[in-house]
Amino acid sequence: MQMPSMPQPTFYIFKCEQSAPPGMPKPSCVNQQTQELFNHLAQTLMQKGVFGPVQAIRTSCLGRCQMGPVMLVEPGHYMYSHLSKEKIDKIVEQHILGGEPVIEYLIPEQFWGEPVSLGK
Ligand code: FES
Repeated sequence: MQMPSMPQPTFYIFKCEQSAPPGMPKPSCVNQQTQELFNHLAQTLMQKGVFGPVQAIRTSCLGRCQMGPVMLVEPGHYMYSHLSKEKIDKIVEQHILGGEPVIEYLIPEQFWGEPVSLGK
């Protein structure tokens, strides 16, 4: 039986949803002030009519906790840091809909260098 092909999403957005218990010294991306960000992202994508072709995915720690809240946009390895609702709105408008990454919101280069080579 031949299956119809399924189109690939245009973008995947991996939003770190890691939280730490109160009192933990290490920062995490989700706390009382930031817990609404994933829903805001998903609702914004729905309002713009691109939820589906753009997949918003809750993920655990992306290893950049000091820069949180963070989310990774693929393709391209674009890691956005210190997110807020206003920043998410601009990222959706300019990067997701407009195709132009929001350079000023990207994680600083010293925290997000070139991908590690696997030596192959
Ligand atoms: S808790 Fe989000 S990157 Fe580590």
